[in-house]
Amino acid sequence: MTDIARLQIASPKRNSKEEAGWHGFFPYYAGYPHSFADKLIESAELAPGAKILDPWNGSGTTTYSAADRGYCAEGWDVNPVMVIIARARLLPTSEADALGPLARDTVKGIRADPRRLLDKDPLLTWFEKPLAALIRGLEHRIRDQLVGAATFSIEGAKVERMSALAATFYVALFTITRELAGQFQSSNPTWLREPKPGETLVDCQRRKLLERFVEAIDIMATSLGTRSHAGPTTGPIMTSLSVMDTAQAKPAAETVDLILSSPPYCTRIDYSAATRIELAILYPRLRISMEALGRKMIGSTRVPKEFLTPRPEWGDTCLAFLEKLGKHPSKASGGYYLKTHLDYFDKMARSLAALVPVLKPSAAAILVVQDSYYKELHNDLPTIIGEMGVAAGLSLPRRDDFPSARSMSGINRYTRIYKRKSGALEAVLCFQR
Ligand SMILES: C[S@@+](CC[C@H](N)C(=O)[O-])C[C@H]1O[C@@H](n2cnc3c(N)ncnc32)[C@H](O)[C@@H]1O
Repeated sequence: MTDIARLQIASPKRNSKEEAGWHGFFPYYAGYPHSFADKLIESAELAPGAKILDPWNGSGTTTYSAADRGYCAEGWDVNPVMVIIARARLLPTSEADALGPLARDTVKGIRADPRRLLDKDPLLTWFEKPLAALIRGLEHRIRDQLVGAATFSIEGAKVERMSALAATFYVALFTITRELAGQFQSSNPTWLREPKPGETLVDCQRRKLLERFVEAIDIMATSLGTRSHAGPTTGPIMTSLSVMDTAQAKPAAETVDLILSSPPYCTRIDYSAATRIELAILYPRLRISMEALGRKMIGSTRVPKEFLTPRPEWGDTCLAFLEKLGKHPSKASGGYYLKTHLDYFDKMARSLAALVPVLKPSAAAILVVQDSYYKELHNDLPTIIGEMGVAAGLSLPRRDDFPSARSMSGINRYTRIYKRKSGALEAVLCFQR
């Protein structure tokens, strides 16, 4: 049993120092840095062989830290791209020296073959035809060389079966493709906008692209080879990463010793759009549409198809917020915005109800949650998720608050016209079953 009072809770704010080295290759929205997860897991003093779950695993900070400390690590994410990214992060240091030679072999003889392009290939959104065909060629080669039928077959994709080596090569391809499309990056660091009509698309010489790919792999190999370990690790570590929608999950009961996660925020970040370019690269394998994936996301910006109404188990704070939101005089508040917020809270409440039974009796669930604003209305997500967790059967013996200047809700420049406190609050909610 985790002694909640003794947990070491550092600030969950990300910092640039932590975003360098190996962890810097996974620059997706993370809820907290590696040092936060590592200190917390160490202080939980779990028994050897204990299992740690992150149900919204994203770039895999929790599964990396859990495996690094020798625990069984389980990570879920509804976005298959994030499952590949989290897998790459788990590549053992021992593999570092193989990466460079393998990358040089991978790029040999790759040509820009336009026949590789699909009808309405999504890569053509940002890239000229020859470059899009070259990126497809590189993706094909990675698949032929490193991915077997257990992962990609005509029946479909099971990205959970992809090796860490193949996943690392995909991450290198994601990295250089993002770099190439840099001119379309918006103020939100993971978001690539679509070019405006008539805007010049990206082109690049074949040799330059392939050299940059090898260089990216070489840099990853150096970072991996010099990565420090929390160690000492005894025996093989079990890691399981799956594509899972927490709002639909029916996981095995009482199997998990600790949940550590940061759930999707309610700040109109479209988590699927943040991986638009990665999804475009993987499109021939995954064949999932942005629309279908976007709908499943907690925090989706799409209006839900079903008619939703608030439920008592969402708690008083949530119900009071929704009431004010629905009556807000600004445009679409009682329509579009109310509907997308109802969708968020519905999925979050269903996810928490699905998650509680996976915890062993007395096990802890630590959730890092950020608040936000709708216009001037405070969306006190830490309190709302706290109340939802209690309604789902957990107790909430501890909550640590950290004010943050880096608010996700500040991304939209229009938000500034409303009177509100600047920055955001990140809360670490410590639940216990
Ligand atoms: C705040 S991020 C998690 C960050 C993570 N702790 C890390 O280190 O990167 C939230 C994640 O939840 C995922 N997500 C959104 N809706 C989901 C759902 N219905 N089921 C499972 N995962 C979902 C998103 O794809 C995103 O990766």
